Amino acid sequence: MRLVEEITIARPFIKWVGGKTQLLDEVRKSLPSDFATRKHLTYVEPFVGGGAVLFWILQAYPNIEHAVINDINKELICTYRVIQEDVENLIEMLSNIQSEYIPLNAESRKDYFMEKRTLFNSKTISPEETAALFIFLNRTCFNGLYRVNSKGAFNVPHGKYVNPRICDAENLRACSSILQKVEILCGDFSETGCYAGPRTLYYFDPPYKPITETSSFTSYAKDGFDDKEQIRLRDFCDQISKRKALFVASNSDPKDVNPKANFFDIIYNHFIIKRVSATRMINSDANGRGAVSELMISNVVNA
Ligand SMILES: C[S@@+](CC[C@H](N)C(=O)[O-])C[C@H]1O[C@@H](n2cnc3c(N)ncnc32)[C@H](O)[C@@H]1O
Repeated sequence: MRLVEEITIARPFIKWVGGKTQLLDEVRKSLPSDFATRKHLTYVEPFVGGGAVLFWILQAYPNIEHAVINDINKELICTYRVIQEDVENLIEMLSNIQSEYIPLNAESRKDYFMEKRTLFNSKTISPEETAALFIFLNRTCFNGLYRVNSKGAFNVPHGKYVNPRICDAENLRACSSILQKVEILCGDFSETGCYAGPRTLYYFDPPYKPITETSSFTSYAKDGFDDKEQIRLRDFCDQISKRKALFVASNSDPKDVNPKANFFDIIYNHFIIKRVSATRMINSDANGRGAVSELMISNVVNA
């Protein structure tokens, strides 16, 4: 008999470009020093993506009473909702997909992937099937990328993982349990403004400003996130700060490539800006990966 019940720690259920797992400690250092003892907190994450910060923060700070997540990607948000409301059905669907896919040879796996990708892009399937295919495609596509074409169709090719874990039932159940106190929205980040108040913390992780002219823009959704959008986000930070909400925002540092580039230093000059070290795919590095700095911008004074 087990004396101590094992508790599964909920981790992101998908791989997402820009995932923030490596920056969790920096986010923690940017929080107010008494954050763990504050009461009646609301946490808002308007660009949730794979939710690395969401799952970590809700488990590290059980004093967060309520959370709100948002993303513009409809299929991603549909998947969060299905995990919240109908996780057992999702697990059954994924486990069926896993037992169909894994025994196939390389060529048949590719055909199976392409068939499911076409079905996913048909947008005629139920939310449960959308969620199952979203996770399946993420686990079996090239590098776990999410990229769509100008028509919004997912177009990442098949990857070559030998034994991908398509159905991680334990983690999905753990995520579902965490999501019970989360309100899930799908839209533009600005729609989360109504939650700003003295007991609210926002964490923003918008799409990166490309750090080289040639680095390909990662298209999570069919509309991009250019400098005008970055300024619209800064204006939003101004608005929520006036309503006494706290915020922490991360972004790539253009100074990595051009030491004179000071776009973020200028637009956020009235907030606190820290530079921390991270590892990221960059084109200027021969291996495509290198140490870069990440900007952590906030209005938290005592951090
Ligand atoms: C850098 S990713 C977030 C990564 C996330 N922190 C993680 O750990 O996986 C940026 C996210 O912003 C979303 N996005 C892009 N434009 C948006 C907008 N205008 N409003 C809300 N979300 C948006 C994208 O779909 C993407 O999921």
